[in-house]
Amino acid sequence: MFSWKTAGKPIVALSPMADMTDSEFCLIAKRFGAKIVFREMVSSEAVVRGNEKTLDMTAFEEEERPIIQQIFGADPDTMAESARIIEEKFHPDGIDINMGCPVYKITSNFNGAALMKDAKLASEIIRKMKAAISVPLSVKIRLGWADPRECLEFAPALEQAGADLLTVHGRTKAQGYSGVADWNMVGEVKKRVSIPVLVNGDIHSPETAKPAMEASGADGALIARGALGNPWILKQIEEVLRDGRVSTVIDEETRRRTVIEHTKLMIARHGAERGVVLMRKHYAWYFKGSPRSKELRMELNAAKSLAEVEAALALDRQPEAA
Ligand SMILES: Cc1cc2nc3c(=O)[nH]c(=O)nc-3n(C[C@H](O)[C@H](O)[C@H](O)COP(=O)(O)O)c2cc1C
Repeated sequence: MFSWKTAGKPIVALSPMADMTDSEFCLIAKRFGAKIVFREMVSSEAVVRGNEKTLDMTAFEEEERPIIQQIFGADPDTMAESARIIEEKFHPDGIDINMGCPVYKITSNFNGAALMKDAKLASEIIRKMKAAISVPLSVKIRLGWADPRECLEFAPALEQAGADLLTVHGRTKAQGYSGVADWNMVGEVKKRVSIPVLVNGDIHSPETAKPAMEASGADGALIARGALGNPWILKQIEEVLRDGRVSTVIDEETRRRTVIEHTKLMIARHGAERGVVLMRKHYAWYFKGSPRSKELRMELNAAKSLAEVEAALALDRQPEAA
């Protein structure tokens, strides 16, 4: 059975991202050597209600393992029941609790980062979930709601309640995504708990992974935005941390083949037209900053079938008219 303690260090994993880390993107990340993937958050209430769309979001392919399913919510019994249902139906390798989401829709119901304001409730959620499942339970937090030192008391409380691993995004809820992630403060959390800690925030290139790991002394890192359109970054980070340099180099041909493979996976799940439409957000990331990216994105956004996507990509390979 999967265990955070034996997961092998450094633990470099794909961070959960709503609308992004679905089965298809996780498969692509895995095929490029990602060791562990966190799937996007799902609502505990929707799982318990038996909402089919939500349950479908937690299904995965064997190839994605080890896969960690993240859940959000604030009611301990509902959280426990949703974790039990997900474990029974799908058998993920771990369950993660979202205690870091800053979005109003989530925090206004006391979900996500709002739980950092109530360590007692957060601990009760962990205790009840632990009792309901057999796989490891991890928690993803921020430094605090408003004060970056809140995590120093909050994190040990989560460990005491039974959390098996913590991920700390080095920002407060009040910061949202502004400023820079404070990896040193993540290191302060690491000093106060004995369970593994993952550093998260602003690791957007293989080169930034080393200073983040050094400043935090963390057991690994979760990578979110840096992996969008760039799923090979997880392997590259492992290379840098292990060998001091990146050996996986991605050329334009590989990027385009990956885009087609990703599109095919989306079509297989969502149908020909919808699959291509759902890929648009990914196309923007895959070609961000590359030559002619604006024109290429416009063509891809107009595409309505795999053939049109392939044609746009092939067309772009031809030399531009003088
Ligand atoms: C589009 C998007 C969706 C996200 N959804 C989630 C989520 O479902 N659960 C979660 O814990 N964090 C979510 N996050 C936060 C990321 O996992 C991560 O903590 C944050 O982006 C900082 O890491 P980064 O600098 O590597 O992007 C999301 C971030 C983005 C950009």
